[in-house]
Amino acid sequence: MTAPTPLIAGNWKMNGTAAALGEAKAIAEGAAGAAGRVAICPPAVLIHRMAEALAGSSVLVGGQDAHWEDAGAFTGDTSAEMLADAGAKLVILGHSERRDGYRETDDIVAAKTRAALRAGVEPIVCVGETLAQRKAGEALAVVTGQVRGSLPAELAGQAFSVAYEPVWAIGTGLTPTMPEIEEVHRAIRATLVEQFDDHGKTAPILYGGSVKPGNAAEILHADEVGGALVGGASLKAEDFLGIIRAL
Ligand code: PGA
Repeated sequence: MTAPTPLIAGNWKMNGTAAALGEAKAIAEGAAGAAGRVAICPPAVLIHRMAEALAGSSVLVGGQDAHWEDAGAFTGDTSAEMLADAGAKLVILGHSERRDGYRETDDIVAAKTRAALRAGVEPIVCVGETLAQRKAGEALAVVTGQVRGSLPAELAGQAFSVAYEPVWAIGTGLTPTMPEIEEVHRAIRATLVEQFDDHGKTAPILYGGSVKPGNAAEILHADEVGGALVGGASLKAEDFLGIIRAL
């Protein structure tokens, strides 16, 4: 079984207007020949313009969330089909800022993942423990529980990735130690194999939470780390390219 193809995905969160498309183009130019797949997930309203701006490059465009229904009376929401129509190839689902801020449960994340698959959009499903859960020794139980609950059986045979993002490491400059990252990534891999047999070996497991050019090489070469989900450092081409080159 060959190792999963690594993926570096930038999560722009609620940052970026049309003025930021130049930064995306600089990322695409610099990422040519990258040792893995590269994606930028901008705010939904920028997806279409970014997909057009990056057409012909190897950089993929993704969404940051999608509704679990394909269409309907859901004011303010965006369906996976709409993301696909706008040019998104991937979508981040179950980010901790959605789980915490919008009370997204594992069941909701699993339903959104099914919706992404129906639309042909590759899901990046996020999991991660809080600091209190880590201090209580519950990190592995929480994360593997989220993997079991958020990844539906329909993912069997489909392309997807899991992003391990310790909540306390997001946007804080704090990162777990390498043994801590490897311990969680190995536990996620074992859970994926339990759920999906051999196919569970093919999904990259991304690490996310304060990944920067300075720590990327060490993190990206850790056991079972198959890429990164990058927030703040994906907004500037220079920083994001520093991470991509560390692959
Ligand atoms: P950060 O965010 O890189 O700014 O810590 C990561 C994320 O939330 O995906």
